[in-house]
This record gives sequence, C-alpha cells and structure tokens, in this order.
Amino acid sequence: MKFGHFDDLNKEYVIEKYETPLPWINYLGSDSFFTLLSNTAGGYAFYKDARLRRITRYRYNNLPLDQDGFHIYVKDGDTIWNPGWQPVQTALDHYECRHGLGYSVITGKKNDILVKQELYVPKYDNILLQRVTVNNTADTAKEIDLFSFVEFCLWDAMDDSSNFQRNYSTGEVEVEGSAIYHKTEYRERRNHYAVFYANKPVDSFDTSRDSFMGVYGSPKAPAAVVNGKCGNSIAHGWQPVGAHHFHLNLKAGETYSVIIGLGYVEVPVEEKFIAPSVINKSYAHALMNKYITDEQFDTGMTELRKFWNELLSGFEVKTENENVNRMVNIWNAYQCMVTFNMSRSASYYESGIGRGMGFRDSCQDLLGFVHMIPERARERILDIAATQKEDGGAYHQYQPLTKKGNSDIGGGFNDDPLWLIACTDAYIRETGDWAILDEIVDFDNNHEKAAPLLEHLRRSFNYTLNNLGPNKLPLIGRADWNDCLNLNCFSEHPGESFQITGPSEGPVAESVFIAGMFVKYGREYANILKHLGIAEEAEKAYKAVDQMTETVLDKGWDGEWFLRAYDAFGQKIGSEECEEGKIFIEPQGMCIMAGIGIETGHAQKALDAVKERLDTKYGIVLLNPAYTKYRLNLGEISSYPPGYKENAGIFCHNNPWIIFAESIMGHGDRAFELYKKTCPAFLEEISEIHRTEPYAYCQMVAGKDAPTFGEGKNSWLTGTAAWTFTVLTEGILGIQPDYDGLTVDPCIPHTVKHFTVNRLFRNTMYHITVNNPDGVQKGVKAIKVNGSDVPVGPIPVTDRKEVTVEVTMG
Ligand code: BGC
Repeated sequence: MKFGHFDDLNKEYVIEKYETPLPWINYLGSDSFFTLLSNTAGGYAFYKDARLRRITRYRYNNLPLDQDGFHIYVKDGDTIWNPGWQPVQTALDHYECRHGLGYSVITGKKNDILVKQELYVPKYDNILLQRVTVNNTADTAKEIDLFSFVEFCLWDAMDDSSNFQRNYSTGEVEVEGSAIYHKTEYRERRNHYAVFYANKPVDSFDTSRDSFMGVYGSPKAPAAVVNGKCGNSIAHGWQPVGAHHFHLNLKAGETYSVIIGLGYVEVPVEEKFIAPSVINKSYAHALMNKYITDEQFDTGMTELRKFWNELLSGFEVKTENENVNRMVNIWNAYQCMVTFNMSRSASYYESGIGRGMGFRDSCQDLLGFVHMIPERARERILDIAATQKEDGGAYHQYQPLTKKGNSDIGGGFNDDPLWLIACTDAYIRETGDWAILDEIVDFDNNHEKAAPLLEHLRRSFNYTLNNLGPNKLPLIGRADWNDCLNLNCFSEHPGESFQITGPSEGPVAESVFIAGMFVKYGREYANILKHLGIAEEAEKAYKAVDQMTETVLDKGWDGEWFLRAYDAFGQKIGSEECEEGKIFIEPQGMCIMAGIGIETGHAQKALDAVKERLDTKYGIVLLNPAYTKYRLNLGEISSYPPGYKENAGIFCHNNPWIIFAESIMGHGDRAFELYKKTCPAFLEEISEIHRTEPYAYCQMVAGKDAPTFGEGKNSWLTGTAAWTFTVLTEGILGIQPDYDGLTVDPCIPHTVKHFTVNRLFRNTMYHITVNNPDGVQKGVKAIKVNGSDVPVGPIPVTDRKEVTVEVTMG
C-alpha cells in the first residue's frame, strides 16, 4: 500500500495519508542548525551537536508516538485540530505533506479552513522558519484562534532528560513583543539563547508549559487552546515553552499569514547583558530582521532550492526506470548529504545523545558525497585522520564539536584504519588532488606528533600487518565492520557494553573480512605509492597484498564460501562446520570486491552460496542460520532475536557489496535484481510491510527468521546510503572516477538498451550516452569522445567545460 507519491519534477515526496506506518521524516538544515521534521510536524531542532545544543525537546519512545515538534493548533468553534494531524489527531478533510530537499510543506484542511505550514532552515542562518498561511475557503466569515507551540530543551539533551532535581529550577525566559527568548543557563556559563518569534503581533502568549497545556493537560487538548487564549505566562523553572496566539477574523475567501522563526543566537561573552538579568537581544533582532517579510522568506527558500539543485546536478542519470532515476538524481544523493551532516547522531532511531562521528562510518559515508562536496570531503578526511593513533589504530568515534577521539569507547576495532585508505583513495580519484597526501595531520590530535597524510595511510596499512593472528589473518580486536561480532568480549553481565568489555586485543581471534579489506584497500594504497613513484615500497605493499590473498584462499576459504572469522579459541565462524551462523555475507562481498578468487572460481562459488543460503525476496540476510541462543564467544550478534539486526537481519549496508561483486563478475541481471530488493523507491507499494520512508534507505530490514520479515528499521543514518549510491553509479552504471580519467564500464540488465548520464568530473561535464544494441550485461566495444573514436579505456581528463561520450556495449 502506498501512502503518497514521488513528485520528481519538484524533487519532493508527497505524503497523502497522515497515518504513515511510522513517522516519515525529513532533514532541514545543511550547515549548523538542523531540524528533524516528521510528516505530522513532529521532530526537534539543534545547533551543531544534537546532544549538547538541543533547542527543543523530543521524547523518543513516548506514547502516543511523535507528539513533540513544531505544531500549529487551530481552534474553530469547538473543533481543535492541527494541519499536520498530530497531536490532536482530529480527522482532516484534506492533508498533504511535501518533503523536499531541505524543506517541508504540510497542508491540512478542516471545515473550510486551509492551513499551510512551510518550513525550512535557510542556507546561511541558524533558524528554523515557518510560514503559516490560513485561508478561509468558506463563503461566510470565520472567527478562529491559531496557536504555535514549541517546548524548549534545556540545552544538554542528556541532562535534560535525567537531572530533574536541578533542571526543574533553572528554566528562564524573557518576552519582548512577539519574541520569546529561552535563556536557561545564560546567566552562568552559556552565551547562547534561543528565540521563538512571530512577525505579527500576538493576542496572547505562553512561556510556561503548565500554563499552556495545564498541569495535567496534554498536547492533545492544551488548556490554552481549549480556552481560546494563552495565559501570558512567564516560566520560572519547570518547563519553558514558546506559544503564540493569534485571534483571526477571516472574511469569506480571506487569507492570513504569519512567519514564525525559531532561532539560535550567540552573543560575545563581554556583551551578554544590557542591564542586570536583561539579555542582549541585538543579535537576535538582527537575525529576526532578516526574516520578517514574505519576500525575505521566499528569497531564503529560493536560495535553498538553488543550493540543492546545483549540488545534485553533478550526477544525473536518465534510464527507462523512473525509480532508478529518482533515487540516483534526488533521494539517494540527498541521503548521502544527510549522513555527511549527521553521521550516526540524530534520527528517529539515533537519539542525538549517543554516538558522535564514527571513524569507519564517516570514512564510508564520504564515498557517497565526495563528488558533491569535494572541499568538505577533504576537510573531513583530515579531521578523521587527526584522531588516528600513532600505531595506526583508530578511536572508533570522535565528537563533532571537539573533533577529538572519544576515549570512552577507545580503539581496537581493527577494520577502522583501512577505511581511511578507502576514503582518501576515493577522494583522490574524484579530485586528482594528490596534494592532500602532503597535508601535515596530527596523530591523536597532538600537534607534536603530526605527519603527512600519506604517513597516516602507511600506518593504517601497517597496522593490519602488525596485528596478524595464528593463521596470519588480521586480528579482529573488539570487532570489525560488524560491530556486534565481539570475539574477545565474553560478557556475562547485563548492561555491559559488548564493544568495550573484555580485552580489546585478543591474540587469537581473526577476521577474514579485514583480510579482504586489506587486499582491496591495501592494493589501493600500493597504487597510490606507485603513482607517487615510491616504487620499492609499492612493490613491498603489492607483495603483502598478494600474500594476504593467498592466506585468504588457504585459511579463509570454507569449501563453498569464504569463512567469516576464527574465534578466540581458533574455532571457525561462518563455516559449514558451525551449528548456526554457517555463512556470513560480509566476507563474500568484501573478498570478491577485492578480486580474490575471481580467476580460480572461488568467487562464483561464494556468490552461488549467497544466492542459495542468504538471499530472500527483501534482500540478502547477514548470516544463516540465525543464532537461536546467546553465545558467549560471539558477543552482541547472538544477543538479537533471530532475524533482527546483525543476527540474520537484512543489513542493507552490505547488500551493495554483493551487488558490486556481481557486477565485477559481469552479472548485470542479478546485480540489478538485488539492487531493487532493498531500494526504498521499489518498496513504495509495500509500505505497510516495509514501514520506513520510501525515499530513504534504512539500516536494517527484518530477515526471513523474524516474525516481521520485511519490516525496515533505523532509516536515514546508515552507510547504506553511500554504498548503494556508489554501487549503482560505479558498479551498475559503471561510471568510475580514476586517477587520470573517467572510466565507463557498465554492468546492466541485458534488457536495458540505452541510458544517459551527466557527470561532473574535475570541472568538466561529461554527457555520456550508453547504447547496448546486442543486449549484453557487460563489456564495452567502442567509445567516441566528442564524436571521434577513442580506444576503449579511461577517458582522459580535459580542460574543456563539456565533453560528449558515446559508449557502445557489446
Ligand atoms: C554501525 C557501523 C557498523 C554496523 C554493523 C552500525 O550501527 O554504525 O559502524 O559497521 O552497525 O555492525
């Protein structure tokens, strides 16, 4: 069942039914000020860090679901309703939510009153803007009351939801006309406040939640709305809120509109107050004055659209399949940008108080946005590298505000360092900026230990070689890509973190997955050295890679597929010998991507095994058979009920690895079949089963062993975004940036006869046409550049602004 439709022309998803299977959200903001917004106007806002600068409250596992947000209430006689349906849940006569790129428009109609909420965060200011337009479509006059409402968070979201003995007494506000200032803790160590203003005079206001809601009231029937006016309350402690009230007399057909802004304002410390306890509002005035008129509001929106259109115009595909087009051209690319901004911090499944920036996560996310924002990608690589430890190991996470490695979780996740090579190589292939390797970058954020970025890559490479186990495979440490395969943990006490319990550096447990990574990214490292003319070292690196390839085929092969690991006792994991968890997806994908076993037939066997044992109608499960009981030697993976998360869930992140593997093998039909299975646009028709947004990838879909097979969870913040974008554009469409040019080598279904791509690469727009007259799945027989035949191979970089490329497959 569908709950809406794609509007590709406007780059919007249009939700037509408010009771979506789960809240379907959007991200507003592209730099420092962000808002998560659901299709019923739920969500929250923060500045830079969702934990430390939370501006409004959000209760995650609340009942009813998704009640906190940016709601507008209408009181029309005895009927109270919201244009977004929540939280009052009065049935609407008409409803629509358009989620666009960086903005959303929610429209609701009830008893001839139409209310439209247009919301966005402008490109250059720290403010959530909304314009509320009210139209009386009746042929008689109407008298109604309109209310806005937000509930402030007392900044540190963790403290705000736990330290009540303090924070019930700290809340402070000021009011000036239609502007409500939330200034909790400003009297002490903060020099920032929030302002919630309207560009029209209010008839009443509230800043105390008790006054607006009633002490025992609820968002479903706030006391102020029921009474038709607010109490002009000033909050002292408890729960500071912002509420505006407008009493409207609307003639037949008349329209009223008001702009409401929620801004974040910083004031230089020495200018904080203008009188005892009176905050300096001049910075807020300056911000508000930028968004007072409709014209200003519209200009901000136009700028935002321009920003997104330009950003996305660097990769545009036209195939006969509209789902592919809309995912690549709009939604998948957009999600990659969201992962750039959020890493894994704030979504409807990530509370914003838990995880900062993941080392491996951020490196992989980069694969999906490097072509859109190469300069920011460069900065990101240098930030990540600066957290790397001197021995080449990595802090598993770092904090976005401080950019320092997070010592609570520490390191010992032995795949982490190799991802630094992966993202740096992708960056160089995209930009040709070899100079990044000369950048002097700290180790462990200590400037005295700084060294060129190339040295960081060298230490990443050597870290694997310096940490080999009994079979000469890489030691797994606390975990590899699969955070939940904790072979050195042995946790017996509830509540212990599986990731940081036990010795991080077990001397026995080994990972075949990291071995595959080493072959893939170690080879990329060797290629870099070779390109730089560091020939001898390059040769040594290639040798180490070849040696690891042999080791994988010897010790990492189970007979029909690649083994997953050896546990702390040297027992096989992911083997036919195992009682459960006989085969895992990760080494099949990574080893084949690394080119292991392609000539020898191992790769084909492994892919056959994946098809037979792991494939389902909704995607490939992570392992099979699922673990049915908790296993001390395996850790978190076996803590999940069968079919969920890493225990045989369909982990969308590594499905693209198999798609890549299939495309390397030339299987275009199979690659595309697999692509469709997890691609949200293709699941739109079964939204009642899939449940998460049809325009965003989710981390996990319940696997075949789960009672809720096919149900998605954890949408938005997942490495799936980057990997599916990469596999579709590079693996299937075959447009691969390389050191010295752009390679076009598609692997497509045999039924596809033609497609075109506009690809911006090193400041040149390549207009690429691919024809497939013989209906092959892979293989290029001729290439023309600007009308002339050229040898089949990479198309060299040029100074021209535009280049046409015609590729004939066959
Ligand atoms: C983490 C990734 C990890 C994946 C698989 C995600 O939640 O962010 O770093 O690779 O789970 O365990």
